[in-house]
Amino acid sequence: MTDFAQIPAHSGRSAVAGIMGWPVAHSQSPRLHAYWLNHYGIDGAYIPLPVMPDRLSDAINGLRAFGFRGANVTIPFKEAVIPLIDELTPVARLIGAVNTLIVDADGKITGTNTDSPGFLDNLRHGAPQWDARRPAAVIGAGGAARAVCAALLGAGVPEVRLFNRTFDKAETLAAHFRPYFKSPIRPLPLEEKVWEGSLAEVGVVVNTTSLGMTGHPPIALDLGLIPADAVVVDIVYNPLRTPFLAAAEARGLATVDGLGMLLFQARAGFQHWFGELPEVTDDLRAYVLQAMGA
Ligand code: ATR
Repeated sequence: MTDFAQIPAHSGRSAVAGIMGWPVAHSQSPRLHAYWLNHYGIDGAYIPLPVMPDRLSDAINGLRAFGFRGANVTIPFKEAVIPLIDELTPVARLIGAVNTLIVDADGKITGTNTDSPGFLDNLRHGAPQWDARRPAAVIGAGGAARAVCAALLGAGVPEVRLFNRTFDKAETLAAHFRPYFKSPIRPLPLEEKVWEGSLAEVGVVVNTTSLGMTGHPPIALDLGLIPADAVVVDIVYNPLRTPFLAAAEARGLATVDGLGMLLFQARAGFQHWFGELPEVTDDLRAYVLQAMGA
């Protein structure tokens, strides 16, 4: 006989959200939201929404047509959805990328970006001793770096030293942010000598590139000159302990891994769609880690 308690509690009124991407099979978000829906006893569903790139516009209209509460947006659509939706929040406009869609009762779709607050919440949670009054060093100048820079400058750091292999991209990012914050972004080439000469006083060092991810080369930088009380953060979470974090730990530096950013960025979307601001707990982390096979 079936144990009825094991059947997911979906009714005809379930609030529905999901994650749009191509592919989405690798995403941990369905499991993460399922955990919270179950934990809070909410009548809702969060499902994978694989969208072929040439069907993105249809998919956005599908959210409206099916009465979705909203969706997360992942690679390769974070920028492509912008012209297809009705409104952007200021943070999404600043970062130029959307990872969360909110659909209202009339079908109006607002796009926001929760990567930025997710990064900051994870940093504060993982390293409460982090001093926002000290400069920050950020590696990379892509979309993830824009979210991280917005978070750090918003938190009040006096300067972001932005290192990128392609220097022009760091310069462009710095110029784009200039009108929005009183503290500057200083663009720098990703070269050992420049790196070593630019670490004085930094309170946090963040990798936003794919370096160190499974199948990618590690970051080839010496961590010896990072101040002993600085925090080192990697937004890569596959593997959880990247070579960059392992080297930082070996030096005795405090570290914060990338899984927390995934968990914290999901909170705001869940609250919009399902009406409860969920907590990031050790139990949730253990559940997602187990699902990742880590
Ligand atoms: P995302 O949106 O995830 O940030 P992205 O926009 O493609 O992805 O940005 C990737 C970042 O990783 C860039 O800063 C990129 O450097 P370039 O601007 O020089 O391309 C950086 N990156 C990727 N592979 C790298 C490598 N092998 N060495 C140094 N930087 C690398």
